[in-house]
Amino acid sequence: MAACPIVTIDGPSGSGKGTISRAVARRVGWHLLDSGALYRLVALAGTLAQVDPHDPGRHAALAQHMAVWFGTRSDGGEEVRLDGRDVTAEIRSEAAGQGASRVAAWPEVRSALLGRQRAFATPPGLVADGRDMGTVVFPGADLKIFLTATPEERALRRHKQLKDKGSDVSLPALSREIAGRDLRDQTRKVAPLKAAPDACVIDSTGLSVEAVTGRVLELMAARRLWP
Ligand code: C5P
Repeated sequence: MAACPIVTIDGPSGSGKGTISRAVARRVGWHLLDSGALYRLVALAGTLAQVDPHDPGRHAALAQHMAVWFGTRSDGGEEVRLDGRDVTAEIRSEAAGQGASRVAAWPEVRSALLGRQRAFATPPGLVADGRDMGTVVFPGADLKIFLTATPEERALRRHKQLKDKGSDVSLPALSREIAGRDLRDQTRKVAPLKAAPDACVIDSTGLSVEAVTGRVLELMAARRLWP
């Protein structure tokens, strides 16, 4: 039995999960779990500690012991720290996403992060964003959303996001990288990206952030999770 109500939002990269999860959590005043950031941090911790990039055990140890901190800057932007170091910009590159997807395929790393992720479920409630939130980490969640969008729209969104952060990446190259990452996430043996059988699927193609956020809030209200 979960300690608090939980809404999970899963989906492929660029589907808008991060933006929607943050908007919903802020609106209802619940905690937010950005599980992708944890996988990005494990990959980065591995690089910084110069561990063998093919060693799942060493990465699982880092996943268990790394000190992570998620905060909000005075301008409302996110701040992420790894062992005290500000890595906010570093973990958001597409290269960091690729590194995350590589370490995320190892069962040892996934189980090392399980307890850490579940610890985010504290009152008044949790919005959990990821790939396996509704299937593995919180199978008993009160509401499960699976967010999708066409591959073209997802690549465009990621492209804009990266450009806004000052990263110069070509759209065709990014589309290929995202397609590769999705394929790896969908076909890995452990906790592959897929909708839970009881998930509500929302196709966000052509929809505004406000429209998708509103739809999630409606579904929460229908389940008496909010207001
Ligand atoms: O969501 P984000 O793009 O930050 O996730 C980075 C990578 O981390 C994903 O491509 C996926 O391989 C992995 N991930 C995962 N399970 C999650 C969240 C992210 O495997 N719950």
